[in-house]
Amino acid sequence: MSDAPMSAKTAAETTAPAETTMPAETTAPAETKKASWLHNAVGYEVYIRSFADSTGNGIGDLTGITQRLEYLAWLGIDIVWITPCYPSPMADHGYDVADYVDIEPIFGDLQAMQALIDRAHELGLRVVLDIVPNHSSNQHRWFRSAVEDPTGPHRDYYLWRDPAPDGGPPNNWVAHFGGPAWTLDEASGQYYCHLFLPEQPDLNWRNPALRAEFEQTLEFWFERGIDGFRIDVAHALIKDSEFRDNPQTADPAGITHPRDQFRCFEHRYDLEQPESLEIFREWRRIAERYDSALIGETYVLEPAGLANLVPGDGLHLGFWFAPMQMPWTAPDITKTLRETSARLGDRVGWVQSSHDESRPATRFGGGDLGRNRSLAFAAMLFGLPGVPFIYQGEELGLEDGVVPPELRSDPIATRNPGAVGRDVCRTPMPWGPGRNLGFSSADQTWLPLGHGVEDSVEWQRQNPDAHVHKMRSLLRFRRELRDLDPEVTWLEAPEGVVAFQRGDHLFALNTHDEATDFAPGGMWSVVHRTGTGSAARSVPSIHIEGTETVAARRVG
Ligand code: NOJ
Repeated sequence: MSDAPMSAKTAAETTAPAETTMPAETTAPAETKKASWLHNAVGYEVYIRSFADSTGNGIGDLTGITQRLEYLAWLGIDIVWITPCYPSPMADHGYDVADYVDIEPIFGDLQAMQALIDRAHELGLRVVLDIVPNHSSNQHRWFRSAVEDPTGPHRDYYLWRDPAPDGGPPNNWVAHFGGPAWTLDEASGQYYCHLFLPEQPDLNWRNPALRAEFEQTLEFWFERGIDGFRIDVAHALIKDSEFRDNPQTADPAGITHPRDQFRCFEHRYDLEQPESLEIFREWRRIAERYDSALIGETYVLEPAGLANLVPGDGLHLGFWFAPMQMPWTAPDITKTLRETSARLGDRVGWVQSSHDESRPATRFGGGDLGRNRSLAFAAMLFGLPGVPFIYQGEELGLEDGVVPPELRSDPIATRNPGAVGRDVCRTPMPWGPGRNLGFSSADQTWLPLGHGVEDSVEWQRQNPDAHVHKMRSLLRFRRELRDLDPEVTWLEAPEGVVAFQRGDHLFALNTHDEATDFAPGGMWSVVHRTGTGSAARSVPSIHIEGTETVAARRVG
């Protein structure tokens, strides 16, 4: 691999300033009180359908999660984020919510949720639910009533427009999952807007009654003891009031993957509208009463735009997704981390994997190489201010599972011929030997198993060299670190090395396969390494194995 030479002035500084419709970044955000437990915490995403099945129907559920919480506590996790578990027709596997204040029977009931919350708290874990405010299911009573009674109060809970003069959709917006972002309701002759599936109609966040309903929803769950929300599509709740066409930047004709079609437009009018901030300020006032956190799924791949969405008085954290698109070179890694860290400080939710993306061990090269890179990258995220989240199976170094076309379930795959979709990162969690690797006693699981017994939790726990122990050791190291200097200084380093310093601690990632030595000035003791290199005390030059991150403390 040949990385371009790296210097302290990196690609991040040369990135063109953001084009955004959001207001300019404020240098001193008016940050209000925050959930103190977020400080130095590490989160873990549970994709409920694939985590643990307690009922034998082949689909994960709440009791399955509760039974596995001890494992997460053993691992050293602080926050457990659970993907949507509300009643849903499952067009998008739960991200199409039919009732925001109940539990989907496949996943359990309110008692099962209470038991989960109580057990998590006994174990010192925080519980974050996933709320989906951008859209509901088309089976939600609000949407049914909006369709049945166009003059009734729920019509304006959604975004309705008359057709364009040619009878087609009212503007050129496209849906994330393919096709136009508009579907015609033949009975009324109007189109409704949906940035995802037609079964996921977008809600009208300019409607005060809708806002009040959601505030009650937050309180409903906070009263049950949850500790926060991960907010789905937090970057798109409000749309342009005039529904103007987005500027087109490329021709989508002939492009088959919906993500690439989406990228043919500058999303000036459907995403990142500044009025969204007001919603999160209101929510913050409620969350603060419960010492709870708001974590945005802020899919904005550009640091200034992300900073505008997370100015400090609304969302506590915004997820930064650029690592999921990042090539494995030192300049790319620096570019991906540096500016976002500088702009957001501890308001970043760092992620390298989720239920929406190919797993990092696969993306970063597969096998041990991919796994080691992912771990080394995790150590860098753990060293920065902010809250890192790992996605179930990342701690096992799982690669993508194989899901044959006829077993695919993700609407991106089933509705777009040729698109692989997201099933590959959603295959069931391997827990141990035996039927369905301990995930479920069913004859068939909802997605095929994607891994072998040697990937499983039980097998890895018994093998001291296994990936899970490396991740656990990193988590323990992070916990011991506690309060590092909030200021991050990026260092001049040898080619292929990304390095930053926080007070007396330094983190250095060697992206190359060959070992290197790094002499940052002064004397250093190695306090953690993700690879197999030996400990070093009071040395001027830090030895970094290939594909390894070393953390060191200045001792002179
Ligand atoms: C983001 C979620 O992570 C994804 O799984 C979902 O399909 C979309 N939002 C739509 O809700």
